[in-house]
Amino acid sequence: MSGLLEVQGLSKQFVSHRGPFRPSRSMYAVNNVSFDVPKGRVVGVVGESGCGKSTLARLILRLIEPSSGAVRFDGLDLLAQRPSEMRRLRAHMQMVFQDPYSAIDPRYTIAEAVIEPFQIQGTRFAAAEATATATALLEMVGLSTQLATSYPHQLSGGQKQRVGIARALALKPALLVLDEPTASLDVSVQAQIINLLEQLRDELKLTYLFISHDLALVKYFCDEVLVMYLGRVVEALPNTDAPARHPYTRTLLDSTFEPDPKQRRQIAPLAGEVPSPFDLPPGCAFAERCPLASERCRIETPILSNADGGHAVACHHPA
Ligand SMILES: Nc1ncnc2c1ncn2[C@@H]1O[C@H](COP(=O)(O)OP(=O)(O)O)[C@@H](O)[C@H]1O
Ligand code: SF4
Ligand SMILES: [Mg+2]
Repeated sequence: MSGLLEVQGLSKQFVSHRGPFRPSRSMYAVNNVSFDVPKGRVVGVVGESGCGKSTLARLILRLIEPSSGAVRFDGLDLLAQRPSEMRRLRAHMQMVFQDPYSAIDPRYTIAEAVIEPFQIQGTRFAAAEATATATALLEMVGLSTQLATSYPHQLSGGQKQRVGIARALALKPALLVLDEPTASLDVSVQAQIINLLEQLRDELKLTYLFISHDLALVKYFCDEVLVMYLGRVVEALPNTDAPARHPYTRTLLDSTFEPDPKQRRQIAPLAGEVPSPFDLPPGCAFAERCPLASERCRIETPILSNADGGHAVACHHPA
């Protein structure tokens, strides 16, 4: 089955210029990433801060241009689209950010904020139509319509994220890319937003790419999981019952298995140093932190090999 979203060999190299007298350096924030998101599925992307999750999200929506690779949405090659076509396509694939208000003018009322996507697309509403559209969107995300005339600073974090979700849904997208949508919320509010996302997925037949640093949350919410480390996918779990085979995923699971959800939100720091992405050692990038590292691991970079049932792992000694 081909995916609603198909990502093939996607890479993004960043070059940092360090002044006239020092050589510039480069690193791959996303390194040869491939995966499919079938229609109606919830695919999770998990990994520590800095592993390339947000860069991957921005590449998929073509908010930044890749160094190489391909992204197909509903069979269309996104990188071949002209800006006008890309703008039209963006209505079908939307992003929800950790801080939805970083992109919104604080002088907008809530009603204006949820209507803005239509204006960006060039749709003009009569006043009554704008009010009706805003009301329907607020109701869809479980917000009181009395908030329509409020301003962002008057809302709680959870309410703001509901507005962010309403904006993302305004143009009736098929795919939502959710970049840590609950990471800055309290645990109880996080649970409410997750419930809302589940309900919206069922009602609107949405497909999600859900990004998080919290493997326990991803395992709860998603149908399949991609684990990233320093720009690469190191494991792809075809379902959340599949036992993890990569030592990094297993360490993440250990550090997130914490019965108290308040403690569980942060990945406990793993032992060992993360190598600099500008200066990766030869071999496996996880070797310095891996309890199973062998001589071979320090010489030969493991490639993601696909085993039965779509369970892929990039490791010389998988469990
Ligand atoms: N515009 C940019 N220019 C240079 N480096 C960047 C840029 N955006 C991200 N990076 C680097 O790419 C790596 C991945 O970042 P990011 O995708 O934000 O990770 P994550 O979302 O997993 O925390 C980091 O090392 C980050 O510093
Ligand atoms: S390849 Fe070696 S160092 Fe890398 S995760 Fe597997 S066992 Fe550990
Ligand atoms: Mg990020």
